[in-house]
Amino acid sequence: MAVRDVLKMGDPRLLTPAAPVTAFDTPELRALLADMHDTMRALNGAGLAAPQIGVGLQVVIFEVNGNPRYPEVEPVPFTVLINPVLMPLTEAMDEGWEGCLSVPGMRGLVPRYTRLRYQGFDAAGRVIDRSVTGFHARVVQHETDHLRGILYPMRIRDLRNFGYTETLFPDQNLPDD
Ligand code: NI
Repeated sequence: MAVRDVLKMGDPRLLTPAAPVTAFDTPELRALLADMHDTMRALNGAGLAAPQIGVGLQVVIFEVNGNPRYPEVEPVPFTVLINPVLMPLTEAMDEGWEGCLSVPGMRGLVPRYTRLRYQGFDAAGRVIDRSVTGFHARVVQHETDHLRGILYPMRIRDLRNFGYTETLFPDQNLPDD
């Protein structure tokens, strides 16, 4: 287990679609997930996708529980999600501020579906099938985008709503990564 380097925007590996996982419950998959978990925790991320540490597989993890990067949002349980498929349950989208460990020091206002169903697998290959709203729905969309080679700045509708965290939110004392 190790904290891995997180690739930053500009690295072509972040723009490359990831391949599906075909073998579950393997030592290699467990090792990848352990590294992703250590890395996300060390950097206070709300989520991490395997391509962000240079592994081109459809694996994401996420968790929100008293996260200093997102102090105002409802908790999201720790989840390992492999080969995810997203199905919006509404056409309604909300704009919300997002950051990303691959875009350190910045935040942008990003539209996301407010309600969606997602399916996929956990590390053992068990089916995950959830319908979620709010920040949970936002995190899943952000992380799944990483598997398609999409970074959140590519989703910002008005680039005036993109900037440095410390400048946008000077009084909130948010971490600057
Ligand atoms: Ni991200």
